[in-house]
Amino acid sequence: MNRRSLTLAIVLTAAACGGSKSDNTGGGTASGTAAPAPAPTPPAGGGDPTAKAKEIFSQRCVPCHGTEGKGDGVASKGLTPPPRNFSDPAWQASVTDEHIEKIVHYGGAAVGKSPAMPANPDLSDPAVLAALRAHVRSLGGK
Ligand code: HEC
Repeated sequence: MNRRSLTLAIVLTAAACGGSKSDNTGGGTASGTAAPAPAPTPPAGGGDPTAKAKEIFSQRCVPCHGTEGKGDGVASKGLTPPPRNFSDPAWQASVTDEHIEKIVHYGGAAVGKSPAMPANPDLSDPAVLAALRAHVRSLGGK
C-alpha cells in the first residue's frame, strides 16, 4: 500500500518535472531562485548503453513493436499504420541508421510518419540511441 503510493508520487513528480520545458518563468517551482538542479543520477545498469537500450526496448517499444520487433505487441491493435515490423528485410534495407535514431528520438511526426510512433526526448545520449538502433537492426537478423 505504502510502496504503491510512493511509486505513484514518484511517477507524478517525474511527470510534473518532465512537463515543464522552462524552470525560469518564476512559476510554480518551489526550489528557490539560484539553486542549480542536482546532477542527474547515472542510469541503472552501470551505464552500459547496450544494456540500457535493451531495458528501454522492453519497457517502451515491446508494447507496440513486440518482443521480436514484429509489430505485434499488445498495444499494436487498432493502430493504422501498424507498428513497424523490424524483422522485414526489405524495410531494414530501406532505412538508414540515422533515420532510425531520428524517429526514435523525435517521434513519427517529425519524420513524416505516423504520430502514433512516440518521441523519446529524454533519450539524448547518442550512445544509448545508437545501441537502441543496433537492437532494432539485430531484430532484422543482422
Ligand atoms: C504506441 C505504439 C508505439 C511505441 C510505444 C513505439 N512505436 Fe515505433 N512505431 C509505431 C508505429 C505505429 C510505427 C509506424 C509509423 C509509420 O509507418 O508511419 C512505428 C515505427 C517505428 C519505426 C520505423 C520507422 C520507419 O520509417 O519505418 C522504428 C524504427 C520504430 N518505430 C522504433 C521504435 C522504438 C525503438 C521504440 C521504443 C523506444 C518504439 N518504436 C516505440 C508505434 C510505436
